[in-house]
Amino acid sequence: MTSSQFNAKGRLHHLLTLADLPRDSLMALLERAAQFAVKPGAAAPRFDLLTGTTVAILFFEPSTRTRTSFELAARRLGAEVITLDLAFSSTMKGESLVDSLYTLQAMNMDLFVVRHGEPGVPETLAQHALPHVHIISAGEAHISHPTQGLLDVLTIRQHKRDFEKLAVAIVGDIRHSRVARSAVQALAILGTRDIRFAGPAELLPDDLAGEKFTNMDKALEGADVVMMLRIQKERMQAGLIPDEREYSRRYGLDGARLKLAKPGAIVMHPGPMNRGVEITSEIADGPQSVIREQVGNGVAVRMAVMAMLMSK
Ligand code: CP
Repeated sequence: MTSSQFNAKGRLHHLLTLADLPRDSLMALLERAAQFAVKPGAAAPRFDLLTGTTVAILFFEPSTRTRTSFELAARRLGAEVITLDLAFSSTMKGESLVDSLYTLQAMNMDLFVVRHGEPGVPETLAQHALPHVHIISAGEAHISHPTQGLLDVLTIRQHKRDFEKLAVAIVGDIRHSRVARSAVQALAILGTRDIRFAGPAELLPDDLAGEKFTNMDKALEGADVVMMLRIQKERMQAGLIPDEREYSRRYGLDGARLKLAKPGAIVMHPGPMNRGVEITSEIADGPQSVIREQVGNGVAVRMAVMAMLMSK
């Protein structure tokens, strides 16, 4: 899909995908996010970069991390924030998404954060937005979750410096994962070539470059980063993958399996986790886990994206 996220001057105006993001823009976002990052327990500073602007948050799918962190990010930059309760919005009465955009734009919204299960929605909204209005994808079907990709590489960068030498194992339902697609795009921009995918054959991707394994142990050998993905239980019910116990036996990350990765390998998970299925609590809460760092970095990354898009 051709992205219209750049304006006529070649500046990033929307954030819809990482697929065509120049390395310079990615690095600038990571540097900015690193400045916004706050250590756990420290007071979060406030900024006035978005003072006088209004951010609308529209989630058509459930979310805990992404929605909350976008709200926090916008508020910490000084914006007014409107989070639409879609269960009580006029989309329930059949109003189209583009009409909802026009309606909210008429109330002087400056930036829309959108999560939707249909492919193409962020792009469509970007095409219909007023010239000064920005659209950020907070998750598009199985296709893209650009701010998740950014927070993932920011987290990796805090632990591992040289992306070109990294071996990254991504495990689980990769075929249906927007998280995996955006992570792979970000890693590719940063020069990571050794990306391995592990999971049941039915859930391995056919559109991503990387080595594919149905044997998870082989994918983990010598990995620097182990990225576990949420197993989507609805796919078990549809018979696409084995039952929970069998899935866990073949593709769950536990202490014995993690020993196959490099000493000092980091363990990531975008959340929400199915503890005891794709990952044991011992690992999720253990010393190699950076899962809660990913969550914290989500706020910093979303601040960086909004600050960059809205800067004059
Ligand atoms: N990682 C992620 O997108 O989590 P949420 O669905 O809770 O936003």
